[in-house]
Amino acid sequence: MSDAVRPALPSSMQAVEIPEAGPPEVLRVCTRPVPVPQFGEVLIRVAAAGVNRPDCLQRAGGYPPPPGASDLPGLEVAGTVVATGPGVSVPASGDRVCALVAGGGYAAYCVAPAVQCLPVPAALSSVEAAAIPETFFTVWANVFELGRLARGEILLVHGGASGIGTTAIQLGAAFGARVFATAGSDEKCALCVDLGAERAVNYRREKFLDVLQDATGKQGVDVILDIVGGPYVADNIRLLRQNGRLVYIAALGGAKGELNVGQVFVKRLTITGSTLRNRPSEEKGRIARALEQQVWPLLVQRAIVPVIQQVLPLESAVQAHRLLEANEAMGKIVLRIAADG
Ligand SMILES: NC(=O)c1ccc[n+]([C@@H]2O[C@H](COP(=O)([O-])OP(=O)(O)OC[C@H]3O[C@@H](n4cnc5c(N)ncnc54)[C@H](OP(=O)(O)O)[C@@H]3O)[C@@H](O)[C@H]2O)c1
Repeated sequence: MSDAVRPALPSSMQAVEIPEAGPPEVLRVCTRPVPVPQFGEVLIRVAAAGVNRPDCLQRAGGYPPPPGASDLPGLEVAGTVVATGPGVSVPASGDRVCALVAGGGYAAYCVAPAVQCLPVPAALSSVEAAAIPETFFTVWANVFELGRLARGEILLVHGGASGIGTTAIQLGAAFGARVFATAGSDEKCALCVDLGAERAVNYRREKFLDVLQDATGKQGVDVILDIVGGPYVADNIRLLRQNGRLVYIAALGGAKGELNVGQVFVKRLTITGSTLRNRPSEEKGRIARALEQQVWPLLVQRAIVPVIQQVLPLESAVQAHRLLEANEAMGKIVLRIAADG
């Protein structure tokens, strides 16, 4: 029998909801029923939840939850499994996990597909673990799978001090790539270098194309992870070397730019990209297993640790969104939800 409805579990919980689309101030603390895990799902008592830029997009009305997902914001959590739905053997009740979810993270309890859960390494706090899933799944799927980054290749990470960027720099360096980054201040650039970038370009003062051509002896780079979009298209394409891969995961600077297709075929470039949230659970499960095998050993040893700018209580979700949207965060912002978070 499923232990989905344990007597010890409360029927309602505290959460943060988006009653209407708008600025950060629309986020509201609310009471919701504790969700019940369905087939293949687990119920997690949430210790901490990561805050991501896509949460801000959702709040502003531009990134609706996929069908069947919770309307509450929050794409990643860490905590303890307190109930399992039918068909789940791993993880089990009592296990400490972090999970990628399609919504519902800003809450005291959250359901997650079992395949999207990963064990929390003993060396990591719940706050640290909550900062992992969204960026690690995204970077793995885009830099290593779509981007096919290989040891010895050169990776350029735009937005190097973002949640995504800090993960991409660390993973790129850990897997033997030469890593470069761009960011919007000297302080952010210093962080990128601390994390393993050979050189970071403050794009407000320098042109990344010039700096990277110089630094690579005019060789160019193999893979670019881009969150800026339109304004960087031309220089990205110029900078890529033969067989280069340009991977888009966002377009914070605008979605349209001018593409010189001649360079695409002459250099045999690949232009690709993806979003994580709308992928089927089986695919996210596959990415989870790849991370467990390839990346978890690095987290277990703390060779890689998520960069956390600030930890705030759940009630301060408004402030968390303001910080992200002001581009002030370096690394991640995490909401602490339970005392053991
Ligand atoms: N496709 C996917 O599956 C997926 C998954 C997760 C996240 N994302 C996207 O990836 C991006 C990063 O997410 P995150 O949570 O890591 O964000 P974040 O921590 O909020 O960082 C975003 C950073 O981007 C830079 N930025 C903002 N506007 C810019 C512009 N117009 N031009 C250049 N840089 C700009 C800012 O840093 P500077 O001060 O350095 O400019 C800002 O701090 C977001 O757009 C998010 O939606 C995509």
